[in-house]
Amino acid sequence: MEDRRIKNVVVLGGGTAGWMTASYLGKALGPAVKITVLEAPSVPRIGVGEATVPNLHKVFFDFLGLSEEEWMRECNASFKMGIKFTNWRTGGRGDANPRPYRDTTDHYYHLFGLLPNHENEPLSAYWSHKRLTGQTTEAFDYACYREPPILDAKLAPRHSDGTKWTNYAWHFDAALVADFLRRFATNKQGAIHIQDEFIDADVDTRGHVTALNTKGGRKIEGDFFVDCSGFRALLINGVMREPFLDMSDHLLNDRAVATQVPHDDEANGVEPFTGSIAMTNGWTWKIPMLGRFGTGHVYSSRFTTQDAATQEFCEMWGLDPSEQKLNHIKFRVGRNRRTWVRNVAAIGLSSCFLEPLESTGIYFITAALYQLAKHFPDKNFDPIFADRFNTEINTMFDDSRDFLQAHFSLAARNDTEFWRACKDLVLADDIKEKIRMYKAGLAINMPVTDENTYYANFDAEFRNFWTNASYYCVFTGLGFDPQQTLTKLTHHPSMLDSAEHVFADIKRKQAELLKTLPTTYDYLKQLHGK
Ligand code: FDA
Repeated sequence: MEDRRIKNVVVLGGGTAGWMTASYLGKALGPAVKITVLEAPSVPRIGVGEATVPNLHKVFFDFLGLSEEEWMRECNASFKMGIKFTNWRTGGRGDANPRPYRDTTDHYYHLFGLLPNHENEPLSAYWSHKRLTGQTTEAFDYACYREPPILDAKLAPRHSDGTKWTNYAWHFDAALVADFLRRFATNKQGAIHIQDEFIDADVDTRGHVTALNTKGGRKIEGDFFVDCSGFRALLINGVMREPFLDMSDHLLNDRAVATQVPHDDEANGVEPFTGSIAMTNGWTWKIPMLGRFGTGHVYSSRFTTQDAATQEFCEMWGLDPSEQKLNHIKFRVGRNRRTWVRNVAAIGLSSCFLEPLESTGIYFITAALYQLAKHFPDKNFDPIFADRFNTEINTMFDDSRDFLQAHFSLAARNDTEFWRACKDLVLADDIKEKIRMYKAGLAINMPVTDENTYYANFDAEFRNFWTNASYYCVFTGLGFDPQQTLTKLTHHPSMLDSAEHVFADIKRKQAELLKTLPTTYDYLKQLHGK
């Protein structure tokens, strides 16, 4: 039988996407395939992208055979058990501390932990009933999850002996990740690294790229090309002329100003979550790592200026804008119409981008690599491979876009032109239906595996990434409660009574964990040998 296997893959770009692609495909395709990465030292990487989601270890690092301890040490990684949203309900200037709200403060968590089921219905349905009938004023996250008081106390997602007690993701230094994976791909897998600048490509009569030409006079030939050139999208939008579908009518933010802030961990501890603080015209991320936190204000150029956004951001952290090293970033929101065209697939920022509210950037890379390896073609290039891949990526992206959009359009705050414009965003039919389900007390997107096995099966997770638990955390957290009890429960009052044991058990576990867990700071210090 003729060997139709692709033997020569060329990756354009050496940012997080480029080196994740080289190392993942190196493992997925095996040693018969030569992988070359072309990276221009003169074109800097984006330099942000520090918060992740929990499947990163299993789907990516574990697949490469790298232990969590090893890559965490190499990348100065810390833990993330969820996102803390601050001041998304009350108006005012940027403030890292939650403002007073009703009988509590203006904050909520979107958690990675599991939401228990009781008699085949998620605990969210029972909490809604209690809320609607005045039996509880406790917030959804604190009532239904073990994690919130642990996050408040800045405790670790592992016991002192290293045992995990919950699901978590990571924060890391984006530059260290790309460099670690470059060393891994070149030293351990034999990837070839060429430092030169792409100028144009040779294309054959079928429209397939056959080689990349560089400023230094090189011609890099290949059978399959992966565009990881960042927002420039040099191959997919440039050479292949595939249109980019702009979605700035769905999400208003298109700029960020980012920096690093030193942090006294000894005195203040290390928060095991990403912070998301609502601002006058957008929001600010806070990503804690040992010794510092990364932070950036994401805003909309339609509603504020770079100077005004920078002023509010620096004021919040007590920074002097004239002294502080600030990274100003413009970004595009949307996706390519098709992200794999003929023999070019785009991965990373060249493929699609949603603003970083739910840390989807690196997840999109991981998921695209998983799907690319699954649909990898041979030299016949049967279009079904690209067609299926494109359908998967488009669905993944649009589903996440809708979820992000709901954060802005349902947020209770309404104090500026920006927040009022968020209420007028046009929602896609799919998210409109989810909102109707939620109001009627129905669970949205119950995981296709049960919550306990959700993270163990990536295909199931990919199909149903934002589950009922995520929708509930965010919707209730934004001040948007369901309007009726799940009708089924009203027919079975005994289910409501017996669910009280589940709520009581959560309180017991919270108390036990608060007594026994190490602090995140102590755990990380030990892990990093500091
Ligand atoms: P990147 O721009 O980093 O790399 C492009 C590469 O192409 C570089 O190596 C460059 O040299 C090369 N190149 C360009 N032109 C070339 C040429 N002519 N010749 C040769 N090489 C060339 N994600 C996440 O998961 N969590 C997060 O918290 C965030 N936060 C975040 C905030 C903001 C404001 C943005 C804009 C993005 C994020 N992201 C994120 C997304 C994350 O940053 C992104 O997904 C990864 O860093 C991947 O970036 P790329 O590698 O695609 O592009």
